[in-house]
Amino acid sequence: MQEVVQAGRPAPDRALRPRRFLLRTFGCQMNAHDSEKVESLLLHHGYLPAAGPSDADLWIVNTCSIREKAEHRLYTDLGLLRAWKAEAPGRVVGVGGCVAQQQGDALLARFPQLDFVFGTHNLRLVPALAEAAAAGARAARTEETRSLDRFDLPARHPSLEGRGPGRAYLTVMEGCDMFCSFCIVPSTRGRELSRPAAAIVAEAEALAARGVRELLLLGQTVNAYGRHASRRGRSDAEGTVPFASLLRQLARIPGIDRLRYLSPHPVFFDDDLVAAHGDLGALCPHVHLPVQSGSDAILAAMRRRYGRDEYLALVTRLRSARPDVALTTDVIVGFPGESDADFEDTLALVREVAFVDAYTFKYSPRPGTSAADRTDTVPETVKQARLEALQELLRGLTLAAHRARVGDTADVLLEGTSRRGDQPSGRDPYHRVVNLVPGSPGSPGDMVAVRIVDATPHSLIGEPCPPLAPPFAHPH
Ligand code: 5AD
Ligand code: SF4
Repeated sequence: MQEVVQAGRPAPDRALRPRRFLLRTFGCQMNAHDSEKVESLLLHHGYLPAAGPSDADLWIVNTCSIREKAEHRLYTDLGLLRAWKAEAPGRVVGVGGCVAQQQGDALLARFPQLDFVFGTHNLRLVPALAEAAAAGARAARTEETRSLDRFDLPARHPSLEGRGPGRAYLTVMEGCDMFCSFCIVPSTRGRELSRPAAAIVAEAEALAARGVRELLLLGQTVNAYGRHASRRGRSDAEGTVPFASLLRQLARIPGIDRLRYLSPHPVFFDDDLVAAHGDLGALCPHVHLPVQSGSDAILAAMRRRYGRDEYLALVTRLRSARPDVALTTDVIVGFPGESDADFEDTLALVREVAFVDAYTFKYSPRPGTSAADRTDTVPETVKQARLEALQELLRGLTLAAHRARVGDTADVLLEGTSRRGDQPSGRDPYHRVVNLVPGSPGSPGDMVAVRIVDATPHSLIGEPCPPLAPPFAHPH
């Protein structure tokens, strides 16, 4: 796909200049990682990152449709992109992600400023689609392929390394077969497909060789990894292993100090996965465990496949394996039919588990999901009041958890600087943000031992503590 300039026939300036792209990403870590994959593909094809809108030739929006608000951001962007495109000839606009997967051709038909659309399984087509678009072709490619090819993308381009030094995303599975009644993901991400363990381990080893110390394993239902193959007795043929075994293999890779995974579903915690939290040093003592509601009636209506007691039992199992495990969660308020008593059950569960933090959402009906047809909706004002009550409770829990950490020591993997800009900042193993005291040395990618000296509602303050000097020097 490189441009060929024939000798003796000078090409116009524009063709000589490498094409430059901008990429805007909405949504979850899966989307952020997909954007990284698209960027890698473009860089491998000779594109360069643009410094800003004025020198970009290609603008891609990677979209999210989990809630209505997220979807609307695309429509706002597309309005602005119409003007951007009109400013210079030859500019190309592409849209990918969950909205693209759902709407495909309809997006092209509705927005004339749009040149190409690519679905969540068609990332590898982006350079060719962009190329064709520059030559005037408009196309939407959203076919779902069951093929594992979609995971075999070129290695992360070296120029992306500086972005999150020391850390990397690693896809282990994609898709979701759970069909929770509120959720659009099964239709935007398709059926569950797990990568062979050998391919995951090889990618992890390559990342470790490039200095990555923390891996975030990704999948829409990450701990459902390999489950269909093992149920059908096809694990060997498909190269998968139980999720806990995968963690064990990855934890053995020299250089990998931290493993995390996102997002698990509570029903896929078998005994070995729980035990892994007790015996794998590299597995971080933090589990993001989406609960969604504390009411049995609402959990059933959400089709979550567990009840309140089962969720609480899982929390007890995890804490028995790893007493200091930090739990965070996702909660939806105002699901259709949610009564005051149901919501009280949610508050009570949040209090009982004492989550360290949570993402909280007002229910947003998603066309095509089964809950969207329900007429017993909760009024917006009630949703808002419940959201605020829940967030108030969580603020107290977060601050209490932070205060309890003062005096502890922790390793912090530095990511950048604090919001104020004068403190190196990173995450501890519990996934809490730790800002080092102003003036502390440290660069992104460094692992620094700190003592927690203070706590705020959003972060911890850490003072670097040098490793203890040996009590005596060995003479030889
Ligand atoms: N409305 C509100 N929140 C939702 N989520 C998923 N679908 C919806 C919806 N329709 C939330 C869930 C999920 C998180 C990623 O987004 O809490 O865990
Ligand atoms: Fe959505 Fe439920 Fe699948 Fe999670 S498990 S992605 S909430 S359908």
